[in-house]
Amino acid sequence: CSVAAVMVRRRVKSRRRWRTVVEILKEFEEGCDTPVGRLRQVVDAMAVEMHAGLASQGGSKLKMLLTYVHDLPNGTEKGTYYALHLGGTYFRILRVHLGGERSYLDVQDVERHPIPSHLMNSTSEVLFNFLAFSLERFTQKEGNESNSQGVKRELAFTFSFPVKHTSISSGVLIKWTKGFEISEMVGKDIAECLQGALNRRGLDIHVAALVNDTVGALSLGYYHDPDTVVAVVFGTGSNACYLERTDAIIKCQGLLTTSGSMVVNMEWGNFWSSHLPRTAYDMDLDAESSNPNDMGFEKMIAGLYLGDIVRRVILRMSQESVIFGPSSSVFSEPYVLRTNSVSAMHEDDTPELQEVARILKDLGVSSDVPLKVRKLVVKICDVVTRRAGRLAAAGIAGILKKVGRDGGGGGGITSGRSRGENQMQKRTVVAVEGGLYMNYTMFREYMEEALVEILGEEVSQYVVVKAMEDGSSIGSALLVASLQS
Ligand code: GLC
Repeated sequence: CSVAAVMVRRRVKSRRRWRTVVEILKEFEEGCDTPVGRLRQVVDAMAVEMHAGLASQGGSKLKMLLTYVHDLPNGTEKGTYYALHLGGTYFRILRVHLGGERSYLDVQDVERHPIPSHLMNSTSEVLFNFLAFSLERFTQKEGNESNSQGVKRELAFTFSFPVKHTSISSGVLIKWTKGFEISEMVGKDIAECLQGALNRRGLDIHVAALVNDTVGALSLGYYHDPDTVVAVVFGTGSNACYLERTDAIIKCQGLLTTSGSMVVNMEWGNFWSSHLPRTAYDMDLDAESSNPNDMGFEKMIAGLYLGDIVRRVILRMSQESVIFGPSSSVFSEPYVLRTNSVSAMHEDDTPELQEVARILKDLGVSSDVPLKVRKLVVKICDVVTRRAGRLAAAGIAGILKKVGRDGGGGGGITSGRSRGENQMQKRTVVAVEGGLYMNYTMFREYMEEALVEILGEEVSQYVVVKAMEDGSSIGSALLVASLQS
């Protein structure tokens, strides 16, 4: 057998492998397809589920949680307030000083730290002692200055997990999301746990409000611009809240006054519809996660998961071929590929995709990955992120539909607003926050582009998407301020 014959056989084999990889990609791409018709079905499903979730407890996978926030900060607030924010990846502590006018918002100190991973599955005592200790350190830095009159420090606890509220300052954890697993905390009053830990340390801090991060972002949005009625977080997890008329919250009639409005925390991460383009990779990710059959929408659009979907596609390809070389088993490790690496690879604008090569190497891929394979990786990132951005837009459009601001001329399906009443003449601001949105340009662009596609050019002129950096924490502190005034 001649050397030439061996070479030919090798080439044929390698071409065949490449063909398999291309087929896997094609199948994945088709599975993730989001033509505007499908997005519109998701929009409708979101609006329908919102109605169902408001109609009865357990009426939908959308919990549509009450927040007891009726009034949002309007700029007249005064004083010094604090926020402690437990997110999915980071915790933040900050202090704001307010001078009674919108322009007098002074964010004085912002501390941002990664949440030590051992805390995510520790005990409530360990978690809250840690938070109390961090607050103690923060307040020690300012000496007695802010507290010289012996006045208690008023704190907002921004807690980015689903809570069943009993008032604005109390509520129990319904379940953990985003990989947290401290089971004994489910059912406990979260504000009480923090207050207890603060008292044990002898800190003069009062937990004045328990706030979902979306509600914090809405508060900051509204503070700057009263046309803000919706807030969405795209970070480690994803969720939305919006201002709803209390008479539309049918499940709570009797409990709430029928006039006025209340912010509703949708917990949209748990949204589900058969119209969502779900692939085998999504199903495997869900089945192997710490919360199977839960948070289906979040697992397609949020930062914790995008990297892992990409990883799963690469893993499948590397099992079918040797395009990633002998060390491709690195992709067997769950969550080894983080979404910030996905964004860095996706947005690599070097001609030879050196950033992609570097990231793959850092992950442990030993062979020098050829350019066409690097391009393939970029393509996978693109498919995953494009789907996420477009579905996120459909979610937002679903809320706009529900509140009658999608240009449809009505208040969604059964909201009671009369048809033909053109709500769309109203400018509508959507406050957006979270690392995925802030740091991943392609995600942001896909989302904004799809929103225009869904709503149409004319209607989308009235919809303003505004980024709120640190909005969840700053806004929560503003909310506490508004309670005092
Ligand atoms: C998860 C939480 C939700 C939070 C969101 C964004 O979906 O359940 O409460 O708002 O992440 O952080």
